Amino acid sequence: MRDFETWLQRTMDKPDSRTRQAMSYALLAPGKRIRPALLLAALEDYGCPRQAGYPAAAALEMIHSYSLIHDDLPAMDDDDLRRGRPSTHRAFDEATAILAGDALLTQAFETVLGCDRSKVPELVEILSRNAGAEGMILGQTLDLGAEGARDITFAQLEDIDRYKTGCLIAAALEMAAVLAGHEEDQETMRDIGLMLGIEFQIQDDILDVTSTEEVMGKSLSDRDREKSTFVSTLGLNPARDMVKDLDSRIRLLARSLHMEPDRLLQVFDQLLNRSR
Ligand code: IPE
Ligand code: IPE
Ligand code: MG
Ligand code: MG
Ligand code: MG
Repeated sequence: MRDFETWLQRTMDKPDSRTRQAMSYALLAPGKRIRPALLLAALEDYGCPRQAGYPAAAALEMIHSYSLIHDDLPAMDDDDLRRGRPSTHRAFDEATAILAGDALLTQAFETVLGCDRSKVPELVEILSRNAGAEGMILGQTLDLGAEGARDITFAQLEDIDRYKTGCLIAAALEMAAVLAGHEEDQETMRDIGLMLGIEFQIQDDILDVTSTEEVMGKSLSDRDREKSTFVSTLGLNPARDMVKDLDSRIRLLARSLHMEPDRLLQVFDQLLNRSR
C-alpha cells in the first residue's frame, strides 16, 4: 500500500491554510486504509492495474476520514483520540475540524475526476449514494438515535451497521467492479460490502470492550455513551459467532464474482484476524 500512500499524500499538496493543515492531519494519519485496500485488491483480481483505482480509493479515504473527524466531535461521540493521535478538534479546534471534514468531502469529488473519464459519472453516483443521507449519514443518524435506548431489535442493529459502516465499504467494491468494466458484478459487490461492513462494525464493537486505546489508537467510549451494539445487546460470544458466520457467507459470495478473488480473500483474512 506504500505506492497508494505516496499518491494520497500528493493530493494534499495544495496552498496552505489552517483548514488544509487539519485535513492533512486527519487524512494522512496512520489509518488502516481498508477501503482502499479492498478496492485495489478487487481491481487486481479483475486483472486491472492498481493505479487505475488510486483516485477512487483516495476519494473514498477522504470521505471516510471526514466521517471520522465529525464522528469524534463533542456533538457526536466526543472522542479525544483517533489514529493514535489527538482527534482533529483536539489538535486544532472544533470549527476547524468541521471545516476540514466539509473540505475533505468536497475534495473527494474533485479527486475522483482523476479516474478514467468515461467511468466518472458512475463513480460519483456510487460515492454520493453511499456517503449521503441514504448511506453512511443515515447510519450515523440511526446510531445517534439508538444511544441509550433499551429495546433495540436485531434488525435495527443490523441496519445501523449496514449503513454507518457497510455503505462506504460497499462503495469500495462497487467502484472496483465499475472501473474494471464488470458492472454485472456490481450488485454482488454491494452485497459483499454491506455484509463486510456489518462484520467489520461488530468487530469494532467487540474490540471496543476487549482491546485498549493504545492498541486501537482511538478512544473506546461505547460503554460511557451507552451505545447500542451487538455486543451490548447479545453479549461477546454471540457477537463473535456472527463475525464468523458473516465471514463464511462473504467468501461464498466472492466465489460467484467474475474473477479469481485471490487478493480479495487475502484482505478478508486480514480483516477477520485484525487486532485494531
Ligand atoms: C473506524 O474505521 C470507524 C468504523 C467504521 C468502525 P476504521 O477502523 O477503518 O478506521 P481507520 O481508517 O483505520 O482509522
Ligand atoms: C463510526 O462508528 C462510523 C463512521 C464514522 C461512519 P463508530 O463511532 O463506532 O467508530 P469509532 O469507534 O469512533 O471509530
Ligand atoms: Mg459513532
Ligand atoms: Mg465514534
Ligand atoms: Mg466504534
